[in-house]
This record gives sequence, structure tokens and C-alpha cells, in this order.
Amino acid sequence: MNLEGKRALVTGASKGLGAAVAQRLAAAGSDVAIHYHSDREGADATAAAVRAEGREPLLLQADMAEPGAVAMMADQLAQAWGSLDLLVNNAGVAPVHSWDSITPAEWQKTLAVNLHGPFFALRFTLPLLRKAGEGAAVVNIGSVVSLNGGSFGPAYAAAKAGLDGLTRSAARDLGPLGIRVNSVLPGPIDSPLVSALPAAALQAMAAQTPLRRIGTFGEVADLVAWLLSPAAGYINGQMIIIDGGRVMH
Ligand SMILES: NC(=O)c1ccc[n+]([C@@H]2O[C@H](COP(=O)([O-])OP(=O)(O)OC[C@H]3O[C@@H](n4cnc5c(N)ncnc54)[C@H](OP(=O)(O)O)[C@@H]3O)[C@@H](O)[C@H]2O)c1
Repeated sequence: MNLEGKRALVTGASKGLGAAVAQRLAAAGSDVAIHYHSDREGADATAAAVRAEGREPLLLQADMAEPGAVAMMADQLAQAWGSLDLLVNNAGVAPVHSWDSITPAEWQKTLAVNLHGPFFALRFTLPLLRKAGEGAAVVNIGSVVSLNGGSFGPAYAAAKAGLDGLTRSAARDLGPLGIRVNSVLPGPIDSPLVSALPAAALQAMAAQTPLRRIGTFGEVADLVAWLLSPAAGYINGQMIIIDGGRVMH
């Protein structure tokens, strides 16, 4: 996997999957803009990991639910780099909101971060991706809940299903510009987000998985890096599932 000379923006890179992706892209030779929302300490740790791979980090703060903040982040990126080769829309929230308890405000917040945020990021960095030209690529981090529903309730599943539609639309419209757009749909990953679920739900997840375990951030980060690389140069508009075989289609 070779991303030498590329410049990537990874949203939600202060911790979790985003931090693993940022490090993996740096290991493959890319400079990385590390976006964070509230966890500056986490973002600094990711920056140190990128530097340890010999690549240059750039720290950017924004609330992905706020279009003005995302536009400002794209402006900062334009001033610092002038163009962008790779975008990973990873920032997300997965609160458990059941059908009976969810409020309109909770519904809107979940949609705002998980669906509107990736749209704003792509919309406002598009001029920069256009400048990068051939070889530019976007990966949206979805979830298998967009296909099957899941334990987090209707808002998270609807947001991630909307993200699948955004990926397909972007892939069709931006393909002619040389910009590939795909989604990675992880099943449960060993993470604080999943550990917050009830123990019975966690046991059921492993038992229902043909590989009998949940995944790791490293496994998902490897897939994201590969999808962004020239090795995946003819893959566009796809939802790639990584879940140990729970969902097959
Ligand atoms: N963990 C799983 O099992 C799993 C499975 C399938 C899909 N996914 C998806 O993978 C992605 C990452 O998940 P994770 O487990 O790594 O989550 P995580 O550890 O909770 O990290 C979430 C990241 O999103 C950022 N974020 C949250 N709200 C934000 C906002 N309003 N504006 C901007 N950034 C915001 C956080 O920034 P700060 O920390 O700086 O506030 C953090 O960097 C998400 O899209 C999630 O839906 C995860």
C-alpha cells in the first residue's frame, strides 16, 4: 500500500478508529490532517503517532454538525495545503436511543453528526479534491446497521443508511472528475462505543459472527488505507462490509 506524497484529512481522529486510520495512512506515506471536536489531548497523541511515522500532521478543530465550522476547517486546509488527495469521513456518534425514548433533539443530533457532517466535509473540501485530480479518493465510515438495523436504535441506523446514499451519489457524480468515493461498513469493533452495550448484546454479537469475535480498529484501518490507495483504483461507489461474515450479500 503506497500513499507516498498524498495529503489526507481524517475526521474524528482524536481517538478510536479515526486515530488508527490516521496512523495507518501516515505509515503508508501520507501527511495527515487530524480533525477533532473536543479531545485536543487525543488529537495531540495522534499527531505524535503521525510524526513517528515521519509524516507531517496538521490539527483541525470543528463541530461536524455545524456547517460554518466545517467550511472554516476546509478554508484552513486550503491555506495550509492548497489541495487534498484523500478524505476519510469517520467522525460519528452512536448513542443508544430506543424507539420509545428518543427525542426530536436526539434524532437531529445523531443525523447532524453522522450524515450532515460527512456531506459538509465533502461539499467544502471538493474544490481541494478537484485540485488533487486523478487519484483523489474518499472513504465514508458507515456501519452494517445501515443494512440490518442494530442495537443503537433508529437514528444511528437511518443516518448510516443516508450515508450509503451519499456515497453512491458522490461516486456517480465525482467519478468523472477522477475522485473515487466508497464506504466501509464495519460490524462491531472492539471499542468503548461497543463496550457500552449490555453484556448480553456483546455475547450475542460474538456468537452470531462466523469468525466468533468482533473486529479491531487495525483491521478496519487497513481496509480504509487500501481503498484509498491506487491498488483499489477501479473500485467506486461500493459499500465494503468488514464484520467477520455476519452480513453476507
Ligand atoms: N466502534 C464500532 O464498533 C463501530 C462500528 C461500526 C461503525 N463505527 C463508526 O466508526 C466511526 C468511529 O467510531 P469510534 O468507535 O472510533 O468512535 P469514538 O471512539 O467515539 O470516536 C468518535 C470520534 O468522532 C468525533 N466526534 C464526535 N462528535 C463529533 C462532532 N459533533 N463533531 C466532530 N467530531 C465529532 C470525536 O471527536 P472528539 O473526541 O475530539 O470529541 C472522535 O474523534 C464512527 O463513524 C462510527 O459510527 C464504529
